[in-house]
Amino acid sequence: MEKMPYRDGEVRVDMPATVARAGAETTTSDWRQALPVLTGSMVTLRELRLSDAPSLLAMLSTEEVSRFISPPPTTVEGFERFIAWTHRERTAGNYACFAVVPHGMDSVIGIIQVRQLEPGFATAEWGFAIGSGFWGTGVFLDGAKMVVDFAFDVVGAHRLEARAAVANGRGNGALRKIGAVQEGVLRKSFLRNGEYLDQTLWTILDDDWRRSRSVGGAQIH
Ligand SMILES: CC(C)(COP(=O)(O)OP(=O)(O)OC[C@H]1O[C@@H](n2cnc3c(N)ncnc32)[C@H](O)[C@@H]1OP(=O)(O)O)[C@@H](O)C(=O)NCCC(=O)NCCS
Repeated sequence: MEKMPYRDGEVRVDMPATVARAGAETTTSDWRQALPVLTGSMVTLRELRLSDAPSLLAMLSTEEVSRFISPPPTTVEGFERFIAWTHRERTAGNYACFAVVPHGMDSVIGIIQVRQLEPGFATAEWGFAIGSGFWGTGVFLDGAKMVVDFAFDVVGAHRLEARAAVANGRGNGALRKIGAVQEGVLRKSFLRNGEYLDQTLWTILDDDWRRSRSVGGAQIH
């Protein structure tokens, strides 16, 4: 049984001007035109910009960050292509990728992304990577809670999956801490550096998340 340390009221959502005018009529499709800016207690989440490419290269292409994830681009131009792709996929309604920017900084230190696993986004998968200088600081948890809220409340997903290599201690620890449920092990499911790795499948359900949120961070399972 895990604790989900959510505190009501700590997340503010600043919608783009066109969306803000819609007020209570904001619909779940607005995020396809422009991602909302999400403000937490430690970080702001926003759409990636092409100018974020050098920061992403510095933060995500190190050995320790990329060890258990699909290989990130190795050049600024490669990250620019990735960022342009995130915008196209968001417009198509398949995917959303948030830049993580700590308060007091201008540059991005990581990303948190969500993609649909089936048309209509009912089942989604999320993934994340943060520069190692920011591990253990709380910025991941602050941003992650807002992205889970976004996936359930704005996009309309009902089940959020994550896969983490069994050997990825921090990845699994972070998912356990946010309250995800471990459903099983996907044997030899991830090819990395010529070796097939086992992955842990973690899930969060919308009802569990909302129930936990409404009581201010109780156990969700
Ligand atoms: C995954 C990631 C975003 C998490 O951010 P983080 O700041 O490291 O996460 P946190 O420190 O908040 O949480 C990690 C937890 O795992 C724990 N942990 C660390 N090493 C561990 C290990 N070997 N075994 C088990 N738990 C471990 C930490 O103690 C921490 O829990 P605590 O706060 O209760 O002590 C970050 O580590 C990262 O970017 N890693 C590289 C990319 C990656 O692997 N992405 C995940 C793909 S699933």
